[in-house]
Amino acid sequence: MAEQSKPTDANGAARQKLVETMEGFRATQVIYVAAKLAIADLLADEPKSIGELAEATSTNAHALHRLMRALVTLGVCEEPRDGVFGLAPAGQYLRTGVPGSVRYRAMHCGQLWPIWGELLYSITTGESARKRLTQTAGFEHLSRDPEAAEIFNGAMAEITREVGAAVVRTYDFSQIRTIVDVGGGYGTLVATILKANPHMRGKVLDMAHAADGARQLLEKFGVADRCEFVEGSFFESVPAGADAYILKSIIHDWDDERSVAILKTCRRAMGPNARLLIVERVMPERLGTSAPHRAMAFGDLNMLVAPGGQERTETEFRRLFEQSGFRLVRLVPAGLAGIHVIEAACA
Ligand SMILES: C[S@@+](CC[C@H](N)C(=O)[O-])C[C@H]1O[C@@H](n2cnc3c(N)ncnc32)[C@H](O)[C@@H]1O
Repeated sequence: MAEQSKPTDANGAARQKLVETMEGFRATQVIYVAAKLAIADLLADEPKSIGELAEATSTNAHALHRLMRALVTLGVCEEPRDGVFGLAPAGQYLRTGVPGSVRYRAMHCGQLWPIWGELLYSITTGESARKRLTQTAGFEHLSRDPEAAEIFNGAMAEITREVGAAVVRTYDFSQIRTIVDVGGGYGTLVATILKANPHMRGKVLDMAHAADGARQLLEKFGVADRCEFVEGSFFESVPAGADAYILKSIIHDWDDERSVAILKTCRRAMGPNARLLIVERVMPERLGTSAPHRAMAFGDLNMLVAPGGQERTETEFRRLFEQSGFRLVRLVPAGLAGIHVIEAACA
């Protein structure tokens, strides 16, 4: 029998990186549990003993101690004295509502956990694992589970704060007076745009689960007098006659047929000079090992396992536009991991 060729990895670095990556699932759960127990909020002002933390979180002190030590190894917490824990720099971002907070995103990782556990099913069948696990399609599960909705909407709001800031830095809204944020969730994107553009007015269209959170967020951003929440379905209708319709992280949630249906609903509501703005990743045809490419590839798989959608290339966006009465005008890079403002006009 011919001798097997050996891996070409002189100092074992590639193997070590592979092992660390594949065991990353443990870090995901450690951070998720810390976020769920609001450990960072408890440590915001000063370090606390393990006894105090266990009492405040109603957890087993011995087990919590072990979790806290794992958090130290991840740079989330530190242990200034034996059995006393405080926040390390990364842990600051697990505090609720601080600038750059990722607490809801960490909790959302917990929601995605069982779904990613079914990746093999999705790769084998091409179908959404969430649909299999919850027996619900699209975003119906959020209407049935208020806690899941709060975590999902909170995570989207955290992500969209960052993306919204990039969008207003890179896209010129000066010629747009009215805008509809289609499937806008809590309305973080439109609120960010309106705050930076006092001449504009807006509407957020989404399902009932986002209504209260959206009204609170619009107040918090100081734009509630220029923006209203509209409850409805983008498969049926969207508010008519605005200058622009913006859809962030919407089209990638759906297959081509449903995406074309959403775009057609927008097209029906739009006058001939209105603009369609899609804020999403534009996938390159080939990917390498850079962090932005990894974010795109994993985002794409997340769309497969969760809503059953996909990230798309420029060619794939052009195809959707052709089928729904639009033409691509330009792609404006937002400077964040492949995210663009994809501008389209009525064909
Ligand atoms: C991935 S989130 C994006 C939220 C927001 N655009 C953002 O980027 O922060 C998808 C949104 O689509 C909304 N959605 C799903 N189906 C919808 C429908 N039929 N009509 C209106 N909104 C819908 C969800 O409720 C959710 O808020």
